[in-house]
Amino acid sequence: LALPVLDADLAERLRGRLAEVEVALAGHVRSRAPFVSEAATHLLDAGGKRFRPLLVLLAAEAGDRPWNDEVLTAACVVELTHLASLYHDDVMDEAQLRRGAPSANARWDNHVAILTGDFLFSKSSELTAELGADAVRIQAQTFTALVEGQILETVEPGPGEDALAHYLEVVAGKTGSLIATSARYGARFGGASPEVERALTSYGEIVGAAFQLSDDILDIASESGESGKTPGTDLREGVPTLPVMMVRRSGDPADARLLELLDPRRCDLADDALHAEALDLLRAHPAMDEARAYVVDRAREAKSLLVALPDGPVREALETFADAVASRSS
Ligand code: FPP
Ligand code: MG
Ligand code: MG
Repeated sequence: LALPVLDADLAERLRGRLAEVEVALAGHVRSRAPFVSEAATHLLDAGGKRFRPLLVLLAAEAGDRPWNDEVLTAACVVELTHLASLYHDDVMDEAQLRRGAPSANARWDNHVAILTGDFLFSKSSELTAELGADAVRIQAQTFTALVEGQILETVEPGPGEDALAHYLEVVAGKTGSLIATSARYGARFGGASPEVERALTSYGEIVGAAFQLSDDILDIASESGESGKTPGTDLREGVPTLPVMMVRRSGDPADARLLELLDPRRCDLADDALHAEALDLLRAHPAMDEARAYVVDRAREAKSLLVALPDGPVREALETFADAVASRSS
């Protein structure tokens, strides 16, 4: 995701600030134990879009003091929390590749990955304390929502519950919550009004959900060179995604074979040939475009919340940011 900023001055400012965030992050992941530093630096160095810090910085531009120590700290807090969750996520998803590098569980083992995630989350919590009690509460609520979303992903929808609604709840929790907090922290510590902070929090929730839904589409559509992850990982693990959900809903008789492949009681997609067949069928299925259209709608909804901001380059940048999420290719 390239810097989605139209105004040249704004882009230049954000680039400089992101560079400062990067330096600060490198310092925060250090430990006095060299091996812990090595494990914690592993995914930070492997790359990443820095999507959440960028949103903190962009949202801070909606306030009257867009760049200060608290904004910098908040940008680090959200990236460290995200990074921590990736170490844990790759254990649960048994993912081998992340950011084009071996996942921590692949390079070392599950124990190292879990404990490094814990280490990074502790670092993030320690930093949050510098932002005051309200920020600590928001961070704790965000963590609750992340974990609830992640756990909900492992359970079936309740009786009579719509599968898509259940899934959207998962997405809101596991991804929307931290992205909403990124926008919220930016607005708050950048000195925006409470009204703008509320609008940007809601904007973040929707953009965050759209970000995850795009990720779902990319899991199926992308080549590993583009995404830095192994395509079809969600599919192999039976993690529900938007395109799969849409195939299941369509009930088209022409989908009989694909539906059979997607039914874990009938097919085990750990089998390479079945997995490849399912991936091919899905890639060519109209559900992919339907899913993309759904994400574009979410981006439109997010942009409509920006009426709370004055016209100008910041609002425009946040609009472009939402569009970039809907059309992301990595
Ligand atoms: C990625 O989803 C996973 C998340 C966005 C959240 C994971 C949350 C936790 C593990 C709980 C919180 C833990 C801590 C320490 C903060 P995905 O697997 O669909 O995405 P991927 O394609 O990037 O793997
Ligand atoms: Mg994963
Ligand atoms: Mg996962």
